[in-house]
Amino acid sequence: MRKNEKSMEQVDLLNKIDKREAVVGIIGLGYVGLPLAIHFGQKGFNVIGFDVDVRKIDMLLRGESYIKHIKMEQIDEKVKNGLLDVTVDFKRLRDADCILICVPTPLTDKMEPDLSYLQNTTKTISENLRPGQIIILESTTYPGTTEEMLLHGLETEDMKVGQNYFLAFSPEREDPGNGKYNAANIPKVVGGVTTGCLEVASALYSSITQVVPVSSTRVAELTKILENTFRSVNIALVNELKILANKMGIDIFEVINAAATKPFGYTPFYPGPGLGGHCIPIDPFYLSWKAREYDFATRFIQLAGEINVSMPYYVIERTIEALNQHEKSLKGSKVLVLGVAYKKDIDDERESPGYKIMKLLLKKGAIVSYNDPWIPVLKETRKHNFQKKSTPITPEMLQGMDAVLIITDHSAYDYAEIVQHSKLIIDTRNATSKIDGADGKVHFA
Ligand SMILES: NC(=O)c1ccc[n+]([C@@H]2O[C@H](COP(=O)([O-])OP(=O)(O)OC[C@H]3O[C@@H](n4cnc5c(N)ncnc54)[C@H](O)[C@@H]3O)[C@@H](O)[C@H]2O)c1
Repeated sequence: MRKNEKSMEQVDLLNKIDKREAVVGIIGLGYVGLPLAIHFGQKGFNVIGFDVDVRKIDMLLRGESYIKHIKMEQIDEKVKNGLLDVTVDFKRLRDADCILICVPTPLTDKMEPDLSYLQNTTKTISENLRPGQIIILESTTYPGTTEEMLLHGLETEDMKVGQNYFLAFSPEREDPGNGKYNAANIPKVVGGVTTGCLEVASALYSSITQVVPVSSTRVAELTKILENTFRSVNIALVNELKILANKMGIDIFEVINAAATKPFGYTPFYPGPGLGGHCIPIDPFYLSWKAREYDFATRFIQLAGEINVSMPYYVIERTIEALNQHEKSLKGSKVLVLGVAYKKDIDDERESPGYKIMKLLLKKGAIVSYNDPWIPVLKETRKHNFQKKSTPITPEMLQGMDAVLIITDHSAYDYAEIVQHSKLIIDTRNATSKIDGADGKVHFA
């Protein structure tokens, strides 16, 4: 085959994508994979969703959603119309023309990339790979993963990338709960292993959104980590400045809002109780780990990590100080944690600083309860097992607390009511700054 000449498989696949006849297979139906599956369905593709979690597949088959901000009707309608088929049978990967991988990429306890999910998926795909398929990795990972792991695991004498099958990386930029940006209007950065791979992947994504082609999978992989490192570093910067501003008696939120009036050269980031979620606290460390191979220390990532990790400890220090002013010790005090989701108005509590704060409070002898309208029960995670249910907010319950910690500023909270009935509030989100009667009662942390 001459350079730039398209193989028969490539021509066929491009044709199928163009006519919306290509079947899209999505592996991993979590916060990323499920909305993506729904979106491809809405654009007229037949979609098969794959997951190892039988409970999730059963719920989807019943037309139910396990992610609060994804409405049941969106799923029900797709399943009924046959546009979204879901299964735990991975042999059916052969029925898909385009396979998108959205499995987790967490860190191990030693803060190293845990690529076990991706390794399992690579193996499963290799057992079912057939000519004429494109495989696209969407999970966030360090530069080199697509070629070092997937290409290495899929390539055989008979299956040549760019000829018989195609391989690309396109980072997922989903922001759960974001009412403005979603799969339809967030541009997709795409890098292919070969030009043919890039062409097929770009054709697929351009049927759902705008495409930003880049020269390699490694460029696309690093693009995603740059985006998240940028957030991590800037959040660390404002977190550090918050501590200093507090010592100086300056309101950091007032400062940020004033700075944000500059029409160029400044992007506002807001401090909080620490980082959470499956992305910002994790992804930069994928790069740090890979950088070691090049004898390179990613100092910004390290420093930002240190500052962000220290924030829950700062919240505890501020709580101790505030209770002290009320002649109370943290030990034996009744403390209510408001919000365990890592950000407002979503039901995702992965890596949430709320968990860390609850753990530290309990360790210091506080009597801890929590409320989160999005998370009625705290499920057991790899790191925590609190066995707690969300306590309903009532004036009496608030009055009975020695301290109320605002960790997540959910829109559903009635902050005026919280301020009115609480004796002492530690506000990590600036949620109460505009509420009458907050002066003296509220300590910002
Ligand atoms: N959540 C976000 O906001 C977000 C945003 C951008 C990128 N990402 C990235 O997307 C990827 C997925 O994240 P998520 O938040 O959707 O994770 P998630 O945990 O919500 O979903 C992952 C799903 O994959 C399934 N799974 C695990 N192993 C599997 C396997 N071998 N085969 C099939 N399914 C398997 C799990 O059961 C789960 O349903 C990660 O790399 C993450 O960094 C996440």
